[in-house]
Amino acid sequence: MVIKDAKFITSNTRADLCPQTDLPEYAFIGRSNVGKSSLINMLTNRLKLAKTSSFPGKTQLINHFLINDDWYLVDLPGYGWAKVSKDSREAWRKMILYYMKNRPNLACVFVLLDSRLPPQKADLEFMELLGTMGVPFVLIFTKTDKQSGTKTDMNIALYLKTLKETWEELPMYMKSSSSTKEGREEILQFISDVNQR
Ligand code: GTP
Ligand code: MG
Repeated sequence: MVIKDAKFITSNTRADLCPQTDLPEYAFIGRSNVGKSSLINMLTNRLKLAKTSSFPGKTQLINHFLINDDWYLVDLPGYGWAKVSKDSREAWRKMILYYMKNRPNLACVFVLLDSRLPPQKADLEFMELLGTMGVPFVLIFTKTDKQSGTKTDMNIALYLKTLKETWEELPMYMKSSSSTKEGREEILQFISDVNQR
């Protein structure tokens, strides 16, 4: 898919203030610093569309980006950042739950996982939540440029083994690097396929 146009539309804390639309949207979620905003920039070929930072907690709001006037990418704040207070964590949870319950146009959630790490409790819990809510999701293993392909594949195999303990059917997964652009075509093709359903 060719990205002809990508523009920032709104930042919100509440799903009901997000763009009123029937166009499909794809949300990026995962632990803080996993590379959600960077991946949105990589997919759209716009270096500064979504704000990124080497410090976790950069994205704090629900950000909508309209792509080709046809579908949305949504950048969400991350979870699992140790320095966050209990109150902020609760506020995050409320915002995300409300978002997922109130966006009937949410076509799919991309759950980003750092390809270098073993399965993390926060991620497994978040997937459980998606499962309970019946929200379709796909896994994306990020930052593959930071280690060898063999190491990435070993980590992914371990991840899938862990998931098999609780999930009857394994979610689809892809790999990505915002540096080498690995995964770009595959992710855009996936979105294009879902858009045409
Ligand atoms: P929050 O908004 O805090 O939840 O983080 P985020 O998930 O949006 O992460 P962000 O895209 O801001 O990236 C965090 C850091 O990781 C930045 O320093 C990025 O440059 C770096 N980064 C993101 N993706 C990649 C990648 O694929 N490869 C490498 N080498 N660095 C990456
Ligand atoms: Mg971000």
